[in-house]
Amino acid sequence: MNLSTLQKRLFAWGMGKANDADADRIKLIDCPEYQSLGELKKALLGNLQHQVLEIGPGAGASLAYYPEDISWIGVEPNPFMHPYLEREAQQLGLANIKLLSGTAEDLPVEDQSIDTVVSTHVLCSVTDLQASLQEIKRILKPGGSFVFIEHVAGECGSWTRKAQDGVNPVWKNLFDNCHLNREIWKILPQIGLETVNYYEFKIAIPLVSPHIAGNVQKKT
Ligand SMILES: C[S@@+](CC[C@H](N)C(=O)[O-])C[C@H]1O[C@@H](n2cnc3c(N)ncnc32)[C@H](O)[C@@H]1O
Repeated sequence: MNLSTLQKRLFAWGMGKANDADADRIKLIDCPEYQSLGELKKALLGNLQHQVLEIGPGAGASLAYYPEDISWIGVEPNPFMHPYLEREAQQLGLANIKLLSGTAEDLPVEDQSIDTVVSTHVLCSVTDLQASLQEIKRILKPGGSFVFIEHVAGECGSWTRKAQDGVNPVWKNLFDNCHLNREIWKILPQIGLETVNYYEFKIAIPLVSPHIAGNVQKKT
C-alpha cells in the first residue's frame, strides 16, 4: 500500500469516527443566528426538497440533517469513505440515496438536473475551485441553489492568516489537499450565479476558522 492510499484510508477512518461527534457541541462564535454547527446544518439542510447532490460527503456527517423524502446523490472520490457513508445511511434508515465515485470538477450527472448542490468542508480540498463551481452551476436547475459551509482564509495581515499561510504547505499534504487559506468568498460571486447570501463566523478550532455558510442561487 503506498503512502497516498494509506492516508486516504486513515482519513476515511477518521471521518467515520467523527460521525459519532455531536455537531450540537461545536459552538459557533460571532454568529448571532445559530449557536452550533448542528443548528446551522438543520437550518441549511433541513428544508431541502427533491433532487439533492452533495459533493465530497465523506463518511456522511450531514446525512442526519436532510429531510427523509429527498432524493440524494453523493459524489465522493475517496473510495474508503464509501463503506462508512453507507453504514451511516443504513443506521439512519435512508433508502433514497445513491453514492457515486467522481469529483466536483467532473460531476457524473446531466446538465440542469439538480435542485440543490451541497458542500460542507469540501471546497478547501478540491483540486480546481473554479472548475468545481462551474460544474455546480452546470448541473443546477434554473432557480436551484448551491448550499455551503466552508472554512476559509483569515483576514489578510491577521495572525490567523499568517499562521494559515505558514502551515498550509504541510497541512495540505497531511489532510488530503485541504487548504487552510482559500479565499472562497471572493470566487463565489464570479461564477455567474445570481444571489450570494452567507454568514461569517468562527469556531474554536484554530486554523480551520473563520467559516462562511450560506447559499448561492442560479437564475430562474
Ligand atoms: C474534510 S472532508 C469533508 C467531508 C464531509 N463533507 C463532511 O462535512 O464531513 C473533505 C471531503 O472532500 C472530498 N474531496 C476531496 N477532493 C474532492 C473533489 N475534487 N471533489 C469532490 N470531493 C472531494 C474528500 O474525499 C472528503 O470526503
